[in-house]
Amino acid sequence: MKTINTTREMRSAARDLRSQRARLGLVPTMGALHEGHLSLVRAAKAKSDVVAVSIFVNPTQFGPSEDFARYPRNLEKDCELLEREGVEFVFAPTVEEVYPRGAVTWVTVEGLSDRLCGKSRPGHFRGVATVVAKLFNIVEPDVAFFGQKDAAQVAVIKRMVRDLNMAVQIEVCPIVREPDGLALSSRNAYLSPDERKMALVLHASLQRAQKLFNEGERNAAKLAAEAKKAFVWQPAVKLDYLDIVDPDGLEPLETLDQKSLVAVAAFVGNTRLIDNILLEP
Ligand code: PAJ
Repeated sequence: MKTINTTREMRSAARDLRSQRARLGLVPTMGALHEGHLSLVRAAKAKSDVVAVSIFVNPTQFGPSEDFARYPRNLEKDCELLEREGVEFVFAPTVEEVYPRGAVTWVTVEGLSDRLCGKSRPGHFRGVATVVAKLFNIVEPDVAFFGQKDAAQVAVIKRMVRDLNMAVQIEVCPIVREPDGLALSSRNAYLSPDERKMALVLHASLQRAQKLFNEGERNAAKLAAEAKKAFVWQPAVKLDYLDIVDPDGLEPLETLDQKSLVAVAAFVGNTRLIDNILLEP
């Protein structure tokens, strides 16, 4: 496994591979890797000849009062995990390498970027779309892998790729959970033992939505209201949103007569967690 820190070296390694007609898969991450990330790596290994994983804590997707400075970073351990998975390249650039001084160009996926997490994290999806576009330009992968865990991010990236005619295929992998249902996240490391227990309320609310949906409820407002009741029993968890939207445009739905995304975000103490479920009639 080769670790690369510069854009120039990454680009030239990727070009060499393409000249050998290898299918290149990219897994973009911010590191602090867990089984959720590794599931993407395994999918990439299965669907490409050569796999590159990027590890870059992207400053532009964090708000001024968010956790950029204290976001968990452990490059050494991450590289050990990736080596074990048989990854060929790790791309771990510095902030200066990715954002040359004076950079003023952004990718904004209008509309979508203001929904779900975009509502409470202004500028977040602009940062995500910009850095992912940069990674696509540097690595020029044939296929890139993203987790359904970040459902709005998937919608934003897919729309960007479509709108900007990018030559990359997007693969979406299912949410990996702890045995008790908590979705894996690098931010779970922030939780105290008590908060870890309380965090289950996100999954519980989605399960409630799933149950009502299975029983035939198709009214989005009623379903959302019922699902939100899970939070009544956990007053220490502050619900940010629980929305039912169309998974592609992220527009609110009135009726669940099509594939529907139930997405939830909540603060457990100071830690903001997200989760979601897809409901299909
Ligand atoms: P990060 O949070 O590190 O996640 C990297 C990828 O792993 C994302 O596609 C995310 O959806 C996926 N992932 C995280 N937890 C998962 C889980 N429990 N199950 C399945 N997949 C999971 O998402 C980002 O980084 C950044 O926004 C990035 C795309 C790298 C741009 O900076």
